Amino acid sequence: MVCLGNICRSPLAEGILRSKLDPEKFEVASAGTGNWHVGEKPDKRSIAVAKKNGLDISGQRGRHFSVSDFDYFDHIFVMDNSNKNNVLKLARNQTDCDKVSLILGPTAHGKGTDVPDPYYGGPGGFENVHKLLEGACRTIAQNLTAQKP
Ligand code: 4NP
Repeated sequence: MVCLGNICRSPLAEGILRSKLDPEKFEVASAGTGNWHVGEKPDKRSIAVAKKNGLDISGQRGRHFSVSDFDYFDHIFVMDNSNKNNVLKLARNQTDCDKVSLILGPTAHGKGTDVPDPYYGGPGGFENVHKLLEGACRTIAQNLTAQKP
């Protein structure tokens, strides 16, 4: 799960997807394409919206997306088109590129493809991000589980 800062959107996406997968079969992580928040906890507004929905994401710490993530992970879900461009700039070959998809679905068009960055807004932005990620992660978990039953 990749966003810009790895403190708002991708930590929530990490927590939500992990809660829907068998931990014996899947490993879920998150990272930011920027390095400002490496080692930090998620934003307290993300921690709060997760908690409200039964998830504890407070143990996560910010990581910087690295080229080695292309080797370690099978799928790289990005929150918006800007994240996608940043990640694809680091891709070394077509195999790397093929791992990258917009979390809201590569086939959606226009505005609807981006999970909006809630950093500069109020708590309502985080509720909206949670709602979008909950729906997306439900589909992703179904698809992944069908591939590895
Ligand atoms: P995120 O939100 O990409 O969802 O974690 C942001 C958090 C911090 C910054 C930008 C976006 N920042 O510029 O520090």
